[in-house]
Amino acid sequence: MQFAVAVSLAVLATTLLSAAPAQAGATWSIALYRANKFLSFTGNITVPPNLPSGGTPYLWPGLEPGNAATVLQPVLDGRNKHWYFGNALVGNPTGPYGGGVNAVPNDNLAFNMTNIGGAGNWYISSANGNQFASTTYNIGIQMQAAIFAVELYPGTVWDFGNLVFRNVVITADGTDSRWCTSNIQTVNVKKTITGVRSSVANNVVTCRFDTLTLSPP
Ligand SMILES: *[C@@H]1O[C@H](CO)[C@@H](O)[C@H](O)[C@H]1NC(C)=O
Ligand SMILES: *[C@@H]1O[C@H](CO)[C@@H](O)[C@H](O)[C@H]1NC(C)=O
Repeated sequence: MQFAVAVSLAVLATTLLSAAPAQAGATWSIALYRANKFLSFTGNITVPPNLPSGGTPYLWPGLEPGNAATVLQPVLDGRNKHWYFGNALVGNPTGPYGGGVNAVPNDNLAFNMTNIGGAGNWYISSANGNQFASTTYNIGIQMQAAIFAVELYPGTVWDFGNLVFRNVVITADGTDSRWCTSNIQTVNVKKTITGVRSSVANNVVTCRFDTLTLSPP
């Protein structure tokens, strides 16, 4: 049992690592849900309490297709020892940068990724108070992994504190809500998740939780 779980997580980590070329070489700490077709992924992020001391930390919620070829992600970018929160599509395909908002420790950010009409074209937005940036990527790609990630490039230390997601709402096509569990899959991270609940209506599963806290493994 233990062995099977470990193997499947290793396969998953390998899949993610090999997936997005622009992110090769990074250390990933992730939690994720999988479903056949995500329709939206929204929530808030509390900017970690400290500035990074250096290096390249990318913190994000994101969506990936089953082959993990690309990732749609509002990224809390900690390069140059400060935070910035912006919209991106990275991998194959890569999209033009989608704008962003300023961020300082403890700010309450908002993100929104929405599958327009269910056709796999994606609206993405980042907000901080009354700052707001959004774009649309018309890629026709269905997303099957909803990921919460701390991605650290070589030489980067997780010294900025915990990453907390709040008020998360994830919707997916269909009626099978079993993926929406407090036993969210993790790789290389400590997690605490609270308030997980799901509902099904009109062939849409809605999964909500109150908080997900990621801390160093
Ligand atoms: C996310 O964006 C979609 C598309 O603009 C909008 O309909 C929806 O209300 C937004 N959701 C949240 C939680 O802001
Ligand atoms: C989420 O973040 C947005 C943008 O900063 C803010 O306006 C909103 O109040 C936050 N929502 C919650 C429930 O914390």
